[in-house]
Amino acid sequence: MRSVYLDHAATTPLDPEARRAMEPFLKDAFGNPSSLHGWGRQARLAIDEARETIARALGCDPAEICFTSSGTEACNLAIIGTSLKAPAHRRHLLVSAVEHHAVLNAAEWLRPIGYEVEQLPVDSYGQVDPDEVRRRIRPDTWLVSVMHANNEIGTLQPVEVIGAICRERGVLFHVDAVQTFGLLHVQVEQIGSDLLSVSAHKLYGPKGVGALYIRAGTPLQPLLVGGGQERERRAGTENVAGIVGFAKAVEIAEARRDEDAQRLAALRDHFIDQVLKRIPDTILTGHPEQRLPSNAHFRFVGVPADSLLIALDRNGIAASSGAACSAGSLEPSHVLLALGWEEDAAQQGIRFTLGRHTTQAELDYVVAVLEQEVARIRAICDSSRNKE
Ligand SMILES: Cc1ncc(COP(=O)(O)O)c(C=O)c1O
Repeated sequence: MRSVYLDHAATTPLDPEARRAMEPFLKDAFGNPSSLHGWGRQARLAIDEARETIARALGCDPAEICFTSSGTEACNLAIIGTSLKAPAHRRHLLVSAVEHHAVLNAAEWLRPIGYEVEQLPVDSYGQVDPDEVRRRIRPDTWLVSVMHANNEIGTLQPVEVIGAICRERGVLFHVDAVQTFGLLHVQVEQIGSDLLSVSAHKLYGPKGVGALYIRAGTPLQPLLVGGGQERERRAGTENVAGIVGFAKAVEIAEARRDEDAQRLAALRDHFIDQVLKRIPDTILTGHPEQRLPSNAHFRFVGVPADSLLIALDRNGIAASSGAACSAGSLEPSHVLLALGWEEDAAQQGIRFTLGRHTTQAELDYVVAVLEQEVARIRAICDSSRNKE
């Protein structure tokens, strides 16, 4: 049986070069970067170099990069860390309805302690209308958070336009770029963000390391307190090997970015075309053009996502649905609900995310399996409906 991994938005395999770069720091170069001796200085130097690499890629000053344990922690630090510094008369937050839970739940966490959280609606493609942001910013708005690209449906947001509005209105702007960094050209100045979250394991780096870009002068309350690491923005001994692997992965991703994006977009377009042609009653989710080059998301009408995912897995294919399994039942995806889908429909969304090693032959195999399995599941659903 073939095995085809099409869940790169969930995580990517570790690049062998990134792993090799990490190895010394898992062996002899084990020093604590806060120590003054040679071992410590070696680790400190490696972190400094990694910070420079990531800052160069994002177009910011190395001092504006704060390493974290994940994209989730970066988003939490951006939303909660800055909001805890908001004056009492500026406690209104605007977050898009399709944000990752790392942002949505961070904003919700602030609600019981006196913050007002308002969700920005999206259109049927999942895009935020910048005019809506302009209309909803109030004198008491402290922060706006809109992701660069959605992790489920791949839709890109007009972050540059929103960034300009936030700057004009004197409101902080956080961009969750976890899905785009390494795949697209992410430049903090061009976007106009004050805060921007990234994560290593989405770009062929290791799991458990991320970073937050914090524009110089942005008020921030650390969420982890202890030592003075990361310029007192995030206490805790640094994950040296993880940070080194992250930087190496960024270096590699930056070098091959444009070529990869072009190749992925061509593969994705062919895949979308074939799926829509060969499988009846299939709808492409998200924006037809303004989407991640790696993302294809569909609704196979009448086919429950969980049944199809199991069938795909039986055929060696890894895909995903945005629906979260909670207490044994499949919750419909909040992203698909935000697009205006009914609950039933929102349980029929399937995401395929392509990666660096995805081939045309693999995608052709997936189309053939989909054709067969979608028809089979529809037949089962029809016959059980007829029995009722
Ligand atoms: C858009 C987005 N934000 C944040 C995260 C969280 O990143 P991490 O897995 O590094 O915590 C993810 C991960 O799926 C994501 O897709």
